[in-house]
Amino acid sequence: MEYVTAAGVEVPALGFGTWPMTGETCREAVESALDLGYRHLDTAQMYDNHDAVGAAIANAGVDREAVFLTTKILRRNLAYDDLLETFAADLDDLGTDYVDLLLIHAPSRSVPIEESIRAMNRLQSEGRVDHIGVSNFSVDQLRTAIGASETPILTNQVEYHPYRDRSDLLPVCIEEDVILTAYTPFADGRVHDEAVLREIGDRYGKTPAQVTLRWLLQQTSVAAVPKARSRTHQRENLDVFDFRLTGAEMERVFDLGGGLVGRLRSVLGF
Ligand SMILES: NC(=O)c1ccc[n+]([C@@H]2O[C@H](COP(=O)([O-])OP(=O)(O)OC[C@H]3O[C@@H](n4cnc5c(N)ncnc54)[C@H](OP(=O)(O)O)[C@@H]3O)[C@@H](O)[C@H]2O)c1
Repeated sequence: MEYVTAAGVEVPALGFGTWPMTGETCREAVESALDLGYRHLDTAQMYDNHDAVGAAIANAGVDREAVFLTTKILRRNLAYDDLLETFAADLDDLGTDYVDLLLIHAPSRSVPIEESIRAMNRLQSEGRVDHIGVSNFSVDQLRTAIGASETPILTNQVEYHPYRDRSDLLPVCIEEDVILTAYTPFADGRVHDEAVLREIGDRYGKTPAQVTLRWLLQQTSVAAVPKARSRTHQRENLDVFDFRLTGAEMERVFDLGGGLVGRLRSVLGF
């Protein structure tokens, strides 16, 4: 496993996404992932699977402290009291007394970012949340969250894959010491048929999915949370730490997304 660091906190760079799994399917998948070595789990109030994720951690025979557990507050629960109240229920469902990382799932249209951050800072001071962060935030919204929080904003979890240009957000994350956590890394399945990714993968005996994860994790301050119900996929996604893409290969993958690759080239040094 590789780790990505922000604010002095080491986070397993490859996490395990749990949406849209619920119930037994989710419990089995998370147990399998923990058994294979995943130690970073991504859930949310929205996914309706806290009980299954909690049961999997309890069953897997892995110390709770060894797992980096992230959940997210639904947009409709972002008002101060709602956030505190719903999060208390989340801990019960997860069967734990703290989460490692609590995120605002998406910016509210009615509740100021500052109000939600204040509630999250309170949960931190009470020891029920180790770190806080955001998801689906623009550059401006991220800067507002950073300015409002008494503690570091550890991550901004956003959609990121070879067809999604992040040349605006990523340099800001690097500059502000914030992890960019990539969700939907396989672009709704599009990467699997991508000739460029296949050609690069053939050189290393890797699949397009593995090349995609390698490309993400090789970028400064980037983590990824692919979801896989199948154990074969879970194993395949973990098997990305024994090869490295060259600068030219990184560039070819960036080119799939167009955008301002030149800006990233200078920031990431590839
Ligand atoms: N913050 C947010 O707003 C937000 C939004 C969306 C997602 N997320 C998080 O990000 C996670 C991942 O995103 P996602 O589920 O949208 O997309 P994803 O991880 O890009 O794709 C999941 C799909 O890819 C398949 N797959 C996984 N590994 C594969 C491999 N090696 N080869 C071929 N196919 C493979 C999975 O199949 P099987 O399951 O059949 O194995 C599943 O159908 C979610 O579970 C969730 O935790 C967050």
